Amino acid sequence: MLFRQYLQPETGCASYLFGCTGTARAVAVDVLPNAVRPMLDILDLSGMHCVAVVETHLQADHVSAGRDLAARTGAPYVAHHAAPLAFPFAAAHNGDRIDAGNVQVTIWETPGHSDDSLALLVTDRTRADEPWVVLTGDTLLVGDAGRPDLHGEANAAQLASMLYDSLQRLSALPDYVAVYPSHFAGSVCGRALSATPASTIGFERRHNAALAPRTREELIRFMLHDLPEEPPDFARMRLVNRGLPPAATVPTTA
Ligand SMILES: [Fe+2]
Repeated sequence: MLFRQYLQPETGCASYLFGCTGTARAVAVDVLPNAVRPMLDILDLSGMHCVAVVETHLQADHVSAGRDLAARTGAPYVAHHAAPLAFPFAAAHNGDRIDAGNVQVTIWETPGHSDDSLALLVTDRTRADEPWVVLTGDTLLVGDAGRPDLHGEANAAQLASMLYDSLQRLSALPDYVAVYPSHFAGSVCGRALSATPASTIGFERRHNAALAPRTREELIRFMLHDLPEEPPDFARMRLVNRGLPPAATVPTTA
């Protein structure tokens, strides 16, 4: 399996490109503008073609280049079926699979940071028939979980309740599963993110405060406590990523 992580330290964002070199099929995830060129280069060099460009959730802290990469490669742009996008996209549902040859992706709906959050379980069948990697979007971060108030502040408690279920589900994966989140230190999508942009389920279960044993109500209180102000540009970026003009007046359902 080819697996590449692209980091943008200024904003604490991560993009991914991975796939099966044998069958030349690749998947791109949470594509940042400055990851497009390196991704196209590696696709070109390796002779792989992109079969899907996935957005783990509507991004609020940067303008996504996922649609750009999808247009350039001809790959479908994949997002949660409830993603509030104003343009056509391939709607992902819980349990959907993406076939990238020996690399198989199973999509999980993991709401909490947002309604439309996805996680991607990645299996490399040349190594094993069980997942090796989970791309957790902003649901489970290294050292934290994604804050639930950036995509509709009124719904923050409800999202935190959904986050409880999503974290339970992710933390029930085997210890050895590698965790690759979409943000790391420098991002405001969490409060205590590590500067290390990778971990394992087992390490996070032992040392991530968001995964400490709690009731649902305790987790809701924990996740709503001590949240920093939302940066002023986030509303504009959500609109751009939805495919709407930045000045449009729309309901804040994202
Ligand atoms: Fe986010």
